[in-house]
Parts: sequence; C-alpha cells; structure tokens
Amino acid sequence: MLKTTDFPPQQALIGGDWVNSATTLEVEAPATGEPLTRIARCQPDHVDAAVKAAQQSFSGQSGEWASWSARQRSEWLLRFADTIEGHQEQLAQLECADTGKPMAQAKGDIAACARYFRFYGGAADKLHGETIPFETDFAVMTLREPYGVCAQIIPWNYPSQIFGRCVAAALAAGNTIVLKPAEDACLSVLRLAELAVDHGLPAGALNVVPGLGSEAGAALASHPDIDHLSFTGSPETGTHVAQAAAQHHVPVTLELGGKSPQLVFADADLDAALPAVIKGIIQNAGQTCSAGSRLLVQREIADSVVANLCERFAALRCDAGEADADCGPLINARQKAKLEERLAAAKADGIRVAAMGQLAPNAPTGGHFVLPQLLTDIPKGHEVLHEELFGPVLVVQVFEDEAEALALANATDFGLCAGIWTRDGGRQLRLAKGIRSGQVFVNNYGAAGGVELPFGGVGRSGHGREKGFEGLRSYTRIKTVAIKHN
Ligand code: NAI
Ligand code: MG
Repeated sequence: MLKTTDFPPQQALIGGDWVNSATTLEVEAPATGEPLTRIARCQPDHVDAAVKAAQQSFSGQSGEWASWSARQRSEWLLRFADTIEGHQEQLAQLECADTGKPMAQAKGDIAACARYFRFYGGAADKLHGETIPFETDFAVMTLREPYGVCAQIIPWNYPSQIFGRCVAAALAAGNTIVLKPAEDACLSVLRLAELAVDHGLPAGALNVVPGLGSEAGAALASHPDIDHLSFTGSPETGTHVAQAAAQHHVPVTLELGGKSPQLVFADADLDAALPAVIKGIIQNAGQTCSAGSRLLVQREIADSVVANLCERFAALRCDAGEADADCGPLINARQKAKLEERLAAAKADGIRVAAMGQLAPNAPTGGHFVLPQLLTDIPKGHEVLHEELFGPVLVVQVFEDEAEALALANATDFGLCAGIWTRDGGRQLRLAKGIRSGQVFVNNYGAAGGVELPFGGVGRSGHGREKGFEGLRSYTRIKTVAIKHN
C-alpha cells in the first residue's frame, strides 16, 4: 500500500524541467472521495513553452531527439520497456489509487504499457518507404517522415496504457510530444514521464502539461505550432479538438468510445462466451471505450443465457482497487451522478434490472461506486441501447436470426468493436464483413488488449488507427522524391 507521502504534488514537464504552475488542481481517490494530492494546472503559456521545447528537440539548434537514428530510438524504447517492468508494482499502485481500478487490472495496464514500448521499440528501425517504378529516366522513392510535434490529449480511464500506445508509437517514428493527461487521473503518466527523463530521453522529446481540458487541453488543440493531434475521449470533446486543429490544418486521430455489441448465437460455446461477456462490461467498471456494452442473444437460448448471467451479475462485488474485487468505483462523482440519473430514467421507462452486483462488506464509504447491472425488457430505440453509459451496465436484446443480429449490431452511430460467438464458419465471416466497426472478435473479445492489433473506430467512434504497425504509420507522413537522371 502506498502512503500519503507517496503522492507528492505533481508539476509539469517542459523541456526536461519540472515546472510549477501558479494554481493547482486536487486529485482525489475515487474509492474514498478523499484527496490524494495536487497537480499542476497548466495555462496556455505552459502549453506554449512545451510546444516550443518539443519543436526545439525536433528541429531546433539543440535538436537532440531529431539527431537520434532509428536504431538509437529503437534501443532506447526497448530499454524503457524494461524500466517500466522494473517499476510495475509502484506504477500499478499509483494507477490503482488514482483511477480506483482493481489492482490486477492496474498491473495488467502497466504490463501493456511496457509491451507498447517493446513493440514500437522493435518496430522503430523496420519502418521504411518504398521505391516506385516510373519512367526509365527517373528514380522515385517515398520517405516516411515524422510529423514533428505531436499533441496528445488522453483520458483518465487507461492513463498508462494510452500513454504507452501514443507515446511509444510517436517517439518510435521520430516525433516529439506534448501530452495533456486527464485532470481526473494522471499520476502514473507523470511517473512514467519522470522515469523516461531519468533514463535518458532527451529534454523536450516528451513534455507533459497536466491541467483542465478547457484550459491546457484547449490551448494545446488550438496551438498553431503542433503538427499532429491524437485525442482519446468523448465524441463531444473530439468535435471541439478537431475543429480547433482544423484552424491550422493539423491532421487528427480521434478515438471516441463505442457501444460495442457481443452477438451470442444458439450454437455458441457458452462456457467461453459468458465469462467473456461479463469481463467485457465489468473491466474498469465499464469505463472502457471498447467495452462490450450490448448483449445480442438468439431467441432459443435467451432465457437460459439471461438466467445464467443474472447469477454471474449477482455474484459480482465492488470494492476499492487495492481489494482487487470484480469492480472498482467510477472515476468521479459527476460520472456517477450522470449514470445514476440515466439508470433512474431507464427504470421509469419500464426497463427491468434483471440482476445487480453488491458492494463488498468492507468497501469504503464515500467511493463513487455504481453496482454492476443487467438490463432487460428494453423498448426498441431506447437511449440505453445506443448511447455510451460508461459504467458496469449491460443491456440485453434478443434476435431471431443472423439478419436481425446484424441489423441490431449496426443500429448505433458508434462502431469500435464487436464480438461474435458462433461455431458456424460462414456466419463468422459474413458478420465480420457486415459489422460496421474497427475491430471484430470471433469467439473471443478484445484479444487480451492486442497491442499489435490496429484499433480505432468508424462513425461516432472516431477515425484513424492506433496500435500495431498501423498506429506507427499514422505517426508518419509520406514524402515522394522523384529524381530524374540521364
Ligand atoms: P473528455 O472527452 O472531456 O476528456 C478527455 C480528455 O480531453 C481529458 O484529458 C480532458 O481534459 C480533455 N478535454 C476536455 N475538454 C477539452 C477541450 N475543450 N479541449 C481540449 N481537451 C479537452 O471526457 P470526460 O469529460 O472526462 O468524460 C465524459 C465522457 O466521455 C464519458 O462518460 C465517456 O462516455 C467518454 N469518455 C470516453 C473515453 C474513451 O476511452 N473513449 C475516455 C473518457 C471518457
Ligand atoms: Mg470533460
């Protein structure tokens, strides 16, 4: 267990220096509602200094990061993966206290963060352009170049994992970074940044400006000198940052959440499917962009599947992260109040809570807990079927056949992930092609996080791809060089 002294006030990282801000923000522990520490509340002038430092490191006189070869970047990233693993326990404790998530999940997140650095470290010196056959008196090649200063605005639900996926890929490709972590959870990110600097990352290659979205975030998204923006968060804020970036024609990657369906057919292996359905919605208390938040189940097995899930939901326990129960608290009082209001409205509309988990007997009071629940008898078109709830709430719909399953699966504006549970090979492929989403999982859900697997949305889930080689390519742009010779 960490002590209060393990949570010193946190500054901003600008040009390799830790910098104070005139005002600070309180960070609370979601499991108790008690304050943990304070973080810098960066203002536009901090953001400006951070962008300048990132520019300097990329192309200025000091230009140290830009002078590193792909192999040097690769070696540093690989070593940093080891460093992260060496600090897994401490980083997981920070993540667990700061986000409220169960300790086992926090440890998994730190392991995934290290895996991003290892994957992109291994890939950094294997990314290259092409030569193109053209006229006989030409030699043509493409250069795959970094953008320059990458702005990264990340959320509170998976701070360390999203740090890994954004920072490792952008650095591997040779960019420099200004990262705005979420005001609700950024302690693991700040510690990761500190470790990076202590382990020899050149000053200015990575800058971190904690603060409010409306202040530091807005200043970063609208900064005229950023060269790329990646944002993970809500569709509404995604629209704001994309509009701000468009003023300076800055390319944008948006990862905006989802309402991802799990389709369970009568021929499915239910022993494999049902635990995965539970995990898909319970993980991180449902505060996961890729949560499997809709269950679509075929008529002939619907009653028995719902009965089985009711037992599983009733057995779920909520507790503080350190207790490592099934489910932690939500991130803050606002998210809890928003969800409870929508659940009350759903009940008033006749939706049935078929089963509910419980608070563990010794769970702290004052935590932002919402009990896991299974909703059935949902009127067609109700908002709980197509809006992201961002909590441990699974909604159930029944379908007759494959055609109806596909229609229901595609009946939201989101399109991030989908799970298909069936033994019929033809159906697996038809649905994988027919479903409108960035990822489809057949007889599994989430592929254990899949650092190597391209990830991103369609429609309201956003655009652009992160993770895997696609993620690395998306932090580069192509320059075509055509050389005429005799
Ligand atoms: P948000 O989208 O407002 O926050 C995400 C990040 O954007 C944070 O770092 C925040 O400081 C920053 N931000 C906020 N306003 C900004 C602005 N005007 N300009 C630049 N940056 C800004 O999400 P919030 O308010 O924390 O959560 C609301 C809902 O968003 C959740 O209920 C959930 O539905 C969704 N969400 C989705 C996530 C995902 O993984 N796709 C993660 C977090 C939230
Ligand atoms: Mg917000």
